Amino acid sequence: MKLFEISLYLHIPFCDSKCGYCAFNSQINKNHLKTIYMETLARYVSYKIHNLLEENQNLQITSVYIGGGTPNSVKSRAYSSLFAEFSPYLAPQAEISIEANPNSLSLEWLQTLQSLGVNRLSLGAQSFEDSKLIFLERHHRKDSIFYAIEMALKAGLKNLSIDLIYGTPLCNASLLTQELETACALPLSHLSAYQLSIDEGSRFYANKESLGNLRDFEGEFEGFLSMGHFIKSYLQTKGFKQYEVSNYAKTSPSYHNLRYWEGKEYLGIGAGAVGFQGGVRTSMPKSIEKFLSGFYEEKEILSTHNQLLEHLFLGFRSCVGVERKRIPNTRNLKILLEENKVKQDGERIYAKDYFLGDEIALFVG
Ligand SMILES: C[S@@+](CC[C@H](N)C(=O)[O-])C[C@H]1O[C@@H](n2cnc3c(N)ncnc32)[C@H](O)[C@@H]1O
Ligand code: SF4
Repeated sequence: MKLFEISLYLHIPFCDSKCGYCAFNSQINKNHLKTIYMETLARYVSYKIHNLLEENQNLQITSVYIGGGTPNSVKSRAYSSLFAEFSPYLAPQAEISIEANPNSLSLEWLQTLQSLGVNRLSLGAQSFEDSKLIFLERHHRKDSIFYAIEMALKAGLKNLSIDLIYGTPLCNASLLTQELETACALPLSHLSAYQLSIDEGSRFYANKESLGNLRDFEGEFEGFLSMGHFIKSYLQTKGFKQYEVSNYAKTSPSYHNLRYWEGKEYLGIGAGAVGFQGGVRTSMPKSIEKFLSGFYEEKEILSTHNQLLEHLFLGFRSCVGVERKRIPNTRNLKILLEENKVKQDGERIYAKDYFLGDEIALFVG
């Protein structure tokens, strides 16, 4: 019987405090809803899995990503029933990631999650410079990051990743070098470096005039094309290979991330969670209360054109690449090949510089 493989994204929409830059679907002061939320999440996971089983008896979940919000703002014991629902269907080597905020992370929480099956931790470090953490309106300080990594190792978690943010007014070459040096001295297998974006819905967006012109940080930087290129070059010397515009891996890329960018199917469950199945994008209500009031997901059938655009953008931003036969503007593709901006390997075309991925996608799309 044919194997049906799928990934699972689970959203935990709770945070202890809201960072200035963040427009993610996360809420503070909703502690009273945490227990019922986790019970409901487990029920919806069971419902979705059983729906799938009706059509595909041979179901295998190849990766799970529990993101937020702040998953460690929910007590570890609240995760048991959730794991009980999907664990029987996990592939033998399934990657099970969870995000955590160094603030309020405990050894007990990490140990319990590890014993439930988590084998990859993504820590929201953001910076190793306290003044930058204060600028970002984070509540943790750099020492908590070291402590969190120590605890993760103690809990038996070896596949460790951190998130860093760059492009703040405090970022200069010496600060970034110091931060990257610190990061690379830690036992990490993966690192995400995100350029600060001022997103609608965040406090930074509401006060954007007071932040000055962050576009100043987008151009040439220390002889590199951009701050991102500077970071990429440093990380390369330490054995971190860029596999997507913001993602670097020492050994292998995150399997779950790759599945998104390859356009593979995944279930998205939780308040505001997005999924993709059979050419249909599903999204659950963003409001926690609405999510709790009954299973509902909006469905958007992606047109062939939109699926193609997605393939071009995700592919050129990452090591996934793009199928040559799907590229509409072959005349522009020829120009890019001649200019050495893209390369061909087999039947696929890859951007040579993922930071130029969006421009390339627009040029050949
Ligand atoms: C949903 S958060 C999960 C981690 C956890 N909540 C924490 O912050 O510690 C995922 C990551 O997205 C990044 N991020 C969120 N908003 C961003 C923004 N406006 N600009 C750049 N990076 C952002 C941060 O690096 C953050 O760690
Ligand atoms: S960055 Fe993370 S901790 Fe901060 S508000 Fe967003 S989800 Fe919460």
